[in-house]
Amino acid sequence: MKNKKIYKAHIIYTKEQSRFEVLENGYVAVGADGRVIGVAADLASLDSKDAEFIDFGNRLLIPAMNDMHVHAPQVHNQGVAMDLELLPWLQNYTFPEEAKYADIHYAERMYRRFIHTQWLFGTMRSCVFGTVHTESTRLLMKLYQEAGMGAMVGKVAMNRNCPENLSEDVEAAIEGNEQLIAEFNQTDALVRPIITPRFVPSCTPELLKACGELASKYQLPVQSHLSENTSEIAWVQDLEKESTCYGDAYNRYGLFGQTPTIMAHCVWTSGEELEMMKRNRVMVAHCPTSNFNLSSGMAPVRTFLDNGLRVGLGSDISGGHDLCMFRMLTYAIQVSKMHYQLDHNRRFLTLSEVFWIATKSAGSFFGKVGSFEPGYDFDALVIDDSVLHPDEYSLLHRLERYIYVGDDRQIVHRFCRGKEITEPKM
Ligand code: GUN
Ligand code: FE
Repeated sequence: MKNKKIYKAHIIYTKEQSRFEVLENGYVAVGADGRVIGVAADLASLDSKDAEFIDFGNRLLIPAMNDMHVHAPQVHNQGVAMDLELLPWLQNYTFPEEAKYADIHYAERMYRRFIHTQWLFGTMRSCVFGTVHTESTRLLMKLYQEAGMGAMVGKVAMNRNCPENLSEDVEAAIEGNEQLIAEFNQTDALVRPIITPRFVPSCTPELLKACGELASKYQLPVQSHLSENTSEIAWVQDLEKESTCYGDAYNRYGLFGQTPTIMAHCVWTSGEELEMMKRNRVMVAHCPTSNFNLSSGMAPVRTFLDNGLRVGLGSDISGGHDLCMFRMLTYAIQVSKMHYQLDHNRRFLTLSEVFWIATKSAGSFFGKVGSFEPGYDFDALVIDDSVLHPDEYSLLHRLERYIYVGDDRQIVHRFCRGKEITEPKM
């Protein structure tokens, strides 16, 4: 077996947010460990001794997509029930659906469907919410392992303001988490547990405290929801009276950057909360379609970037309706253009900025992911855009057109940490 591979294609990626790196007929060398050794415009610049050579011809080679906030057990509700705002939407549509995951057979059918769709659209890494059910969440992790795709998967913690059949007492929550941690928490593993308090209104102070202690004890990352909807924020203020802002309600339980933390939405984040996120390096998962569908608002992503906050993009199925992360880039630009309409001082996002957010910026949550610089995991997609009249466009316009009007049919190869990922079993 050859110990390294060299791929030739039109290579496009973003080292910096302000511009694309474009290598027409470029080369990328990948080691046996699945990490990039080097990327170059000409073969002579790479050590090609003993390398297997693969030529992708006139195709585009780009970093794979990362979905930084998604609920796998909401896949059956994808594209339906978007006539309510967050809190009644949870009670009426989302909680009843998630309760079905007590049934492992239902869970398997839906989770296979979910992972298959992510594969179709070239999403090789995700931060995923499961349900409160330990067995179904274990199954979800196993299915990601079987597929070879990377995921941080959370057993959801919730014990108040929810139906009885989704509520779990604190001891059971700790016990279930520790089972999954014992089984899956290995350094460098592609599939890892993440501590997942649903959001403050779903968790008693005791449960939030237990979540913070688990994150600290096992040095695990944390994911949750933050400042998504104005009624939700008012409710949190009422529930956590000592907290100075919603983010502080997580911070006081060790769930706000004490270990790597990602918070979905942050539509209404400003002031103290923004400062705390910056200080604690908390990443924002921006979910534009969800914010539109649940009528939550428009997250100020330009402000986040200007303040040096870490940002990634999330589909937030089924608040969001679209699992295609390429489309999410276009929605993020469109939201920023609405901000611009309201205030011309807010420069809208450029394509290289959203591409960087979705790849290198988001990928940093998983380690060295989302770029083709040496040392990065080779997470990549090969795009055959021959049906989109590539000969009439520059390489960057080919990429832009693919992002705006392409779909899964043009993705002809997918790689996660150097390994080609073939179609998962449905
Ligand atoms: N806040 C708490 N739970 C959820 C959820 O499932 N989806 C969204 N969008 N927000 C939430
Ligand atoms: Fe969500």
